[in-house]
Amino acid sequence: MTTQGTRPETQSSGLMFPTGFVWGAATSAYQIEGSISADGRGVSIWDTFCRQDGRIVGGDHAEVAIDHYNRYAEDVRLMADLGLTAYRFSVSWPRIQPLGSGAYNTKGLDFYKRLVDELLSYGIDPWLTLYHWDLPQALEDAGGWPARDTSKRFADFAAAVHAELGDRVRNWSTVNEPWCAAFLGYASGEHAPGRREPAAAIRAAHHLNLAHGLAAQAMRAQNADSQIGGCVNLYAISPATDSEEDADAARRIDGLQNRFFLDALLKGEYPEDVLKDLGAVTDLDFIEDGDLATIAAPLDMLLINYYSRFTVSGAPGGAQSASAAPTDSGSPWVGSEHVGFVNGGRPVTGMGWEIDGSGLREVLDRLVAEYPRLPLYISENGAAFDDVVAEDGTIHDPERAAYIDTHLRVCHDAIETGIPLRGYFAWSLMDNFEWAWGYGKRFGLVYVDYETQIRTMKSSALWYADTIRHGGLLGPAE
Ligand code: FCB
Repeated sequence: MTTQGTRPETQSSGLMFPTGFVWGAATSAYQIEGSISADGRGVSIWDTFCRQDGRIVGGDHAEVAIDHYNRYAEDVRLMADLGLTAYRFSVSWPRIQPLGSGAYNTKGLDFYKRLVDELLSYGIDPWLTLYHWDLPQALEDAGGWPARDTSKRFADFAAAVHAELGDRVRNWSTVNEPWCAAFLGYASGEHAPGRREPAAAIRAAHHLNLAHGLAAQAMRAQNADSQIGGCVNLYAISPATDSEEDADAARRIDGLQNRFFLDALLKGEYPEDVLKDLGAVTDLDFIEDGDLATIAAPLDMLLINYYSRFTVSGAPGGAQSASAAPTDSGSPWVGSEHVGFVNGGRPVTGMGWEIDGSGLREVLDRLVAEYPRLPLYISENGAAFDDVVAEDGTIHDPERAAYIDTHLRVCHDAIETGIPLRGYFAWSLMDNFEWAWGYGKRFGLVYVDYETQIRTMKSSALWYADTIRHGGLLGPAE
């Protein structure tokens, strides 16, 4: 590990965060671990997907990824150098339960025990996500998330992991971004398993919600002290104009992206208008009596991944998608495929995602106004940019620090006005395998040389470390 870099000249902005605010960074198993055949790990849907032609830009795969499976101790030291108070990671289901049902793999579980113990030895609080998209292939072969049984398999898995790690991990979340797992996995096919079956995607969405509820219940039954949350990716949504068709487009996208998940998890119901939109695609009789009560099992917190705003149009011949997939894919917007995603005119990140801190504020305001009050955490927020390694080996990425600064200012303001926001996790700790985009998009605070696996803190990492040490915002990074 090297930590050279230009430490920006910083000055306090006077914007301090409350004592106990959680300063974190996040990763996910498939994006960093590699070692996909080590120590008895089973096959995941992403292993299979990466082997198919045309799925991942450049034919990239995650067989080695950033070798975190072998380098976790070095990576935890990096986190300690950054001063993180918490680290959000996910466990790989096929590493722990190779076939997704039946036998558990002790060696797989042991890896996470070692990781957690290492974190705890530095005083870093482990935040464990049970599912970040790497379904065991055997479960996909049995129907995948469109099959109801997968939810039950997940609850069993959650209970087993919680029984083993619940003594040393306090903060648990179930499914990362069920919208992506359902609609990118089963409708657009941009993500594994790459199916393009809109009706199946709706079933998957419901079963991912059900999986969340069943898992939360199972963990709660074991240990009442665990803090359990759901994790959703929320967007601010604006209509492109004040026309009726654009208002309808905004209603639809907000419905499918945000309310379908929030209403289920936090109110125990699906929004009527969304059920109507989806009912035009398929009958919804797979939603069984009692499911929504299960899904709405009481939570201790909500984890929010926020990246951007969508501006949408319902005008015929709708505009190009702002979040176009890098590979040949269909639409993830089941039942609302006609909606266009319009350029809102804001500066964009390396993903083409518009940078809009005000959207985060809208999301937080809406949660407080429309849903039961519970502690909120930003569990992902960050940006890809085309990093350049200077001749002296440093990586100067002020635009990434500025992105995080913008959103942290919103967080600070939200807390000042009484929103129960308790922590922030930057996405991502390190550069990694960005799904269908392969290694071309770098989100890390820490630069990874994919040839040598050498980690180097970017200037944004040094800025974030200063911010954490200070406990508040500094002047913008140079
Ligand atoms: C989120 C995912 C995460 C990463 C970031 C950029 O949707 O949870 O794995 O891909 O986007």
